Amino acid sequence: MTSLPVIDIDPFGTEVLTDPYSLEHALLDAGPLAYLSAHDIYAVARYDAVYAALRNWQGFQSGAGVGLSNFRTEKPWRQLSIVVEADPPHHDAPRRVLANLLGPRVQRRLRAEWMAKAHKMVGKVLDGTPGSTVEFDAVTAIAEKFPPRAVGDALGLPEEGRENLLPFSDFLLNAFGPRNELVAAGAPHAKSLTTWVMEHCRREALSEDGLGGQIWAAADRGEITHEQAPGVVRSLFAAGFNTTVHALAAVMHALVTHPEQWARLRAEPSLARIAFDEAVRWASPVQTFFRTAVGDVGVGDHVVPDGAKVLMFLGAANRDPRRWTDPEKFDLSRDPSGHVGFGFGLHQCVGQNLARLEAECLITALAERVETLELAAPGERRLNNTLRAWHSIPVRARLA
Ligand code: HEM
Repeated sequence: MTSLPVIDIDPFGTEVLTDPYSLEHALLDAGPLAYLSAHDIYAVARYDAVYAALRNWQGFQSGAGVGLSNFRTEKPWRQLSIVVEADPPHHDAPRRVLANLLGPRVQRRLRAEWMAKAHKMVGKVLDGTPGSTVEFDAVTAIAEKFPPRAVGDALGLPEEGRENLLPFSDFLLNAFGPRNELVAAGAPHAKSLTTWVMEHCRREALSEDGLGGQIWAAADRGEITHEQAPGVVRSLFAAGFNTTVHALAAVMHALVTHPEQWARLRAEPSLARIAFDEAVRWASPVQTFFRTAVGDVGVGDHVVPDGAKVLMFLGAANRDPRRWTDPEKFDLSRDPSGHVGFGFGLHQCVGQNLARLEAECLITALAERVETLELAAPGERRLNNTLRAWHSIPVRARLA
């Protein structure tokens, strides 16, 4: 048996968060399991190993936290999610309620409304005559605007205070990493943001017919308890906004930097969903998530000891050459299905179809109006311990 590869690079250091690819290559080369000495954690990065580990919820639990902190041994310093950080049987009822609400039916209900919203937003940004050029920031003018508008309305949130949505989940997703300077930078506002979110998980703050109101109605029917309802609503605040913002930014960045793929998409707009999933594979807006070993769990020839934290590298798995041909290529001819950008197994993203619908609406609206796209200046990253995010992507568009 070979010895377990040890890597001393900090996966949450500025260098890796800025450019994760050299660590990803090192992990993929190392084998199915490696030890990361910077945080005394294990790492799983190869596609097959990530897939198997995410499926093995009995061996790799979420209930001790999906961040670096181990709530089996540490007193929780933050509120655990009753959805993403719960194991069966506690996970079952909240998950069922969300799966019912966010399934195909809600997409059919929302499609026409979100298409109209996307056309309106894109029309405002692309204010020009055919043949003219328009400059805009794909992050601040589009990606950051659409989810708070579309999902915020669907959730049944009042307009006022929606500016808290992105800072709240930015902090939360940073808090899954170590308490580094990114967490420290968000800490002064964490309490007021959390208070705002908790107030808006209350029934009285949400419209009755929105997704939030329907979660409360599910509690009335006994599908979850009334005590669980605010936690289930909160899971949408935590997971339903920033993730999609940076996935939309990723697909915009991919299309702006691959003009031949943009031309292809314009010729065949039904590729919008493929483009989005391929961008989620290629860029993996959610890069990593933790699990905790329950008992000694074998991975390849090695063992993760009971209670150890294991970091799942979704981004590396989505670029593992053992699974993907030319993984670093953003390619609309590829079938990206099977990527783990939305996770896999019991906790696989329950909102993925809403995210796909948002993307389809925006990409379709853009494709109707924009002939060519190019970068007007280099994009700027926004660093986050969990997300591969963008601060800005300046774009120049020639209108059709
Ligand atoms: C879970 C990614 C959009 C709600 C997850 C997980 C990932 C993920 C990787 C699994 C976490 C784990 O296994 O520990 C993404 C990405 C999105 C996105 C990349 C956008 C492209 C959304 C949206 C919603 C949402 C729009 C809701 C409106 C959730 C919830 C969970 C989850 C509630 C927890 C599910 C469970 O534990 O059973 N997401 N997500 N997500 N996501 Fe998403």
